Amino acid sequence: MTREQSRNALVLGAGGGLGQAIVARLLTDPSIDKVIAVSRNGRTEDLSGHWTSSSRLVWIQSDYTEQAMADVVTQLAPYAGTLSRVCICHGVLHSDTIWPEKRLEDISADALHEIFHANTVIPSLWLKLLHKILAGKQRCVVAALSARVGSIGDNRMGGWYAYRTSKSALNMMLKTLAVEYARRAKNVKLISFHPGTTDTPLSKPFQGSVKKENLFSTAFVADRLVGIMDQADVDGQLSYLDWDGKSIAW
Ligand SMILES: NC(=O)c1ccc[n+]([C@@H]2O[C@H](COP(=O)([O-])OP(=O)(O)OC[C@H]3O[C@@H](n4cnc5c(N)ncnc54)[C@H](OP(=O)(O)O)[C@@H]3O)[C@@H](O)[C@H]2O)c1
Repeated sequence: MTREQSRNALVLGAGGGLGQAIVARLLTDPSIDKVIAVSRNGRTEDLSGHWTSSSRLVWIQSDYTEQAMADVVTQLAPYAGTLSRVCICHGVLHSDTIWPEKRLEDISADALHEIFHANTVIPSLWLKLLHKILAGKQRCVVAALSARVGSIGDNRMGGWYAYRTSKSALNMMLKTLAVEYARRAKNVKLISFHPGTTDTPLSKPFQGSVKKENLFSTAFVADRLVGIMDQADVDGQLSYLDWDGKSIAW
C-alpha cells in the first residue's frame, strides 16, 4: 500500500473491554492497514494470544501524563494524514477507592477529580494533541466513548454524580472541539458514542439489574461502532449516537 492509499486506525485506551474488542474488530477490516493501540498496559493476553503475530497491530504504552501523550503523538507522526478511524475509549466509573454516588453526601472532591481526569481531561487532551496529524484529505471519523447518562435531557434517575457529569462535560468538550475542527480539520467527523450496557469490568458490578437481552457483548458493540463510523457523514458537527445509530438528547 502506498502512503496515499493506506488507511490506519488508532485506538486510545485499548486495554479495556471495549478497547480490545474495537482493536480486534478493526484488525478484521481489510481496508485498514495498521491498527495502532495505546494503553497503560502492555498487550493484553487476549490480544497477544490472537494477534501477536499480526504485524498490522502496533502497540504503544503510555501513562497518559500530558508529556507522555505528546510523546505518543510524536511517534504517530509517520501516520499523519492516514488515520481514518480514531476511537477514544477511556472511562472510569468505579475503582478500589471510588464508588458511584447514590446521594449527595457521597460526593467527594477526590473522586470528582479522578473521574473527570480519566473521562473528560484525557480524551480532550488527545483531541488537542492529535488535530495536526488528523487534518488532511483523508476522511477521518473519531468516536469518543461517552454514555447516555451524560445526557442532561435524559437524566431522570439522578445519582452517579461524578461519572454522569464527566460524560456531560465530555460531550460539551467534543461539541466545542467540533466547532474548531470544522475550521481546522474539515476532514474529521466527531461522534460521541453510547455503547449500551456492555459486559466489561466497568459494568460488572451493575449487571445484576440488567436484563440478559440488554447486556451486550463487546464484539457486538465494536461491530456496531465500526458500522456507524463507516456510514458517518463528515458534516462538521458532533453526533451523539447510541449503539443503534440513534441520536441521544443532549
Ligand atoms: N461497559 C459499559 O456498559 C459502558 C456503558 C456506557 C459507556 N461506557 C464507556 O465505554 C468506555 C469503555 O469502557 P469499558 O466498558 O471498556 O471499561 P473498561 O473495560 O473498564 O475499560 C476502561 C478504559 O478506561 C481506560 N482507563 C481506565 N482507568 C484510566 C485512567 N485512570 N486514566 C485513563 N484511562 C483509564 C482504560 O485504558 P487502558 O487501555 O489504558 O487501560 C480503558 O480504555 C468508557 O468510556 C465507558 O465510560 C461503557
